[in-house]
Amino acid sequence: MIVNGRYQTDIDIADRALQYGDGCFTTIAFRNGCLEFLAQHIQRLQKACGILYLEFSKWKTLEAQINQSVSDKYDCVVKVIISRGAGGRGYSPQGCRQPKFIITHHEIPAHYQAWQLNGLALTVSPILLAKQPILAGIKHLNRLEQVLIKQHLGATEFPDALVFDTDGALVETSVGNVFWKSNDVWYTPDLSNSGVEGVIRNQVISLMKNNGLDVNIVQHSLPDLANLQEMFICNSLMKVVPVSHWCKENEDVKITIQSNEQTRLIQSWLNQINHTSVKSIETN
Ligand SMILES: Cc1ncc(COP(=O)(O)O)c(C=O)c1O
Repeated sequence: MIVNGRYQTDIDIADRALQYGDGCFTTIAFRNGCLEFLAQHIQRLQKACGILYLEFSKWKTLEAQINQSVSDKYDCVVKVIISRGAGGRGYSPQGCRQPKFIITHHEIPAHYQAWQLNGLALTVSPILLAKQPILAGIKHLNRLEQVLIKQHLGATEFPDALVFDTDGALVETSVGNVFWKSNDVWYTPDLSNSGVEGVIRNQVISLMKNNGLDVNIVQHSLPDLANLQEMFICNSLMKVVPVSHWCKENEDVKITIQSNEQTRLIQSWLNQINHTSVKSIETN
């Protein structure tokens, strides 16, 4: 692991990322020699730091270190954590002015390629997301809800689940954002109360708009999903993955997705983006 530019194998036990989950993170795909959507990942980290009042300023250094860290690597996941660092008194971050960045590398899950081709089935998670407008959208380090969602999923035969908030609105899945088409209209959940505003979600919305497909950003509950024409999930590692059907665990309701015609188009638009031409980030 690289901490503030140095190779290390351990981290200070007083670090606030460990003590309180005080920080944010992102996972970037490094594929075919390119760090996909690096600028957008860094922009989301910048937004998160702003919301958390985390005074990290070494954005140019971070970008350079991320690039350097993959110079001797093949396809992998690059995980970047920004922690407020060690210090402060109890929860209070006061006086804590030495944030850290941590870079680690991991394998890209092998099953994602099969998912992209064949699609996947979703169940519905019984774990509901809390509504917290201040933290909604950012990828902060407090991920206990996702840990519980995965814990539950592990006891089912499903690889992923639709996840709702405590008001019953669909938000995302355990690891990605979700889009669906019903009555010839595309939808994706509004993320102003909970969920992660995915880098790929934003790319997909722009691609769809640029190609004449309107997307409505909505707060929808489960019954509205009954008449589905298409559905897909997405994140930086799996990119666009069609959903074949979804069903509630232990219930006989199984909703089969009718087609994935436009999903395949969206998938190919995203895959055609040339990452070498992506410009360097604006830094402050
Ligand atoms: C809970 C959750 N929602 C959405 C996303 C999608 O984010 P991105 O497209 O930036 O990878 C992720 C990514 O891991 C996630 O963990």
